[in-house]
Amino acid sequence: NDQLKSKLREFFDRQPDQSEKAHQDSKIFEVLYSQFLENQHCIDWNSWKFLEEKHQVTLKDLEPFDKSRFNILNKLAVIKLNGGLGTTMGCSKAKSLVEVREGYTFMDLAVLEHQKMCEAHNVDTPLYLMNSFYTDEDTKKYLAEKGYSNVKTFVQSKCPRLDAETKLPIEDENEDWGDDAWCPPGHGNIFQSLQNSGVLDQLLADGREIIFVSNIDNTGANTDLQIVQLMLDKNVDYIMECTPKTQVDVKGGTLIDIGGRMMHLEMPQVPAENLPDFCSTKVFKIFNTNNIYVNLKAVKKLLPDIKSEIIVNKKTIRSREVLQLEFSIGGCIKNFDNALCVHVERKRFRPVKNLGDLLSLRSTLCDLDHSTFKVHHNHELGAPPVISLDPSIYNSVEVVDLKFPHPLVMDNCSEFAVVGDVTFGKNVKLSGKVTVNGKTESPGVVPDGTVLKDQEYIAE
Ligand code: UTP
Repeated sequence: NDQLKSKLREFFDRQPDQSEKAHQDSKIFEVLYSQFLENQHCIDWNSWKFLEEKHQVTLKDLEPFDKSRFNILNKLAVIKLNGGLGTTMGCSKAKSLVEVREGYTFMDLAVLEHQKMCEAHNVDTPLYLMNSFYTDEDTKKYLAEKGYSNVKTFVQSKCPRLDAETKLPIEDENEDWGDDAWCPPGHGNIFQSLQNSGVLDQLLADGREIIFVSNIDNTGANTDLQIVQLMLDKNVDYIMECTPKTQVDVKGGTLIDIGGRMMHLEMPQVPAENLPDFCSTKVFKIFNTNNIYVNLKAVKKLLPDIKSEIIVNKKTIRSREVLQLEFSIGGCIKNFDNALCVHVERKRFRPVKNLGDLLSLRSTLCDLDHSTFKVHHNHELGAPPVISLDPSIYNSVEVVDLKFPHPLVMDNCSEFAVVGDVTFGKNVKLSGKVTVNGKTESPGVVPDGTVLKDQEYIAE
């Protein structure tokens, strides 16, 4: 291991970029790398308990937000996690620049909703984006084009990907891998990135005490002032919003208690034989929405030692097996003394992980309120329907735009599957469990006004 560590240091010393940021990033990676080499990724399954009552509250039981206390917003900054690409949706740019609904991108919705909140309360709460080296350029260009001059950005760390075999950074004499040899180390990197970019000190100097952080693709993640109020009134250091787990969320992280402290449990830390328990919605009833509130003074006090378990993400890049070392913001909960889990409704977690989620966000399951730029999720069933689209046909946002030119009416739909090449007309109504099959010989059409309920339908 010592040999690998010294080879890693030599790798960093060889890099043409010897800027202060590159140096800081190399230090961050060295810590992740040591954890990786220690190789202790699973928890002892006998060592944990379910959360104690004192560590959890329910949003609807909290004190209502006191409308005379809008100065609370002067102590807040909002941060959207914007480091990810939309690769699972077939695009190579920042996921936040995908058009979600009515021509608005995730970025538009996040920025406009924030602006409306500030206007409504006559405050100037800052909105930051945490970009990665993947997304920074496109994002800044987009912000400039759209005139979103109030939105601030900072860039998270850039770390090497490892060759799965040698466990060393990728170096290829025959081919310049460029940025493919690098990756951002997950959203757990936010605290060090706030510190290293100078944003943390700036926020504290401006009297900002609380940050609200969420995934930019979660259209349900509006700033909740009741929770900000709770953070301030009860001196809470860290809050994670959790929501009931459904079949579509089985891989999400959850919270457990280890030795009186909350810990975020994710799949890689679960011993193989206990994975069925981890994925069961009966054993682990809640999961992390990644809507997180953190007290910046606590962050400042804890840094540079905010650590969490690492997640080893395996990928194939340019036909080579590579490893990305990542850590999550949820995983950092265990560093904070005064942490809480707040139970919220499922509508606060509506991310777009794939093209099926995009379809449900464009359907009648949601309304976009243009006065607040909040997306309302109307569906009766609580959790979004399980949508599966034939990956051999529906492999990009452009294809979905083309094949589903009109919103689907799917208020009571629990499952929807499309097999084959099918285009959907106007006002197609789906309820219950519906499968639409195209014919192999020619593309099919579901005509305008078709009503489908609990059935399998052949599209001619
Ligand atoms: P995740 O990677 O946790 O979830 O990113 P995802 O985008 O849904 O990806 P998969 O499909 O589960 O793998 C959650 C949020 O965190 C941001 C992403 O842009 C997204 O908004 N993110 C992720 C970062 O900002 N930096 C990172 O290093 C990783």
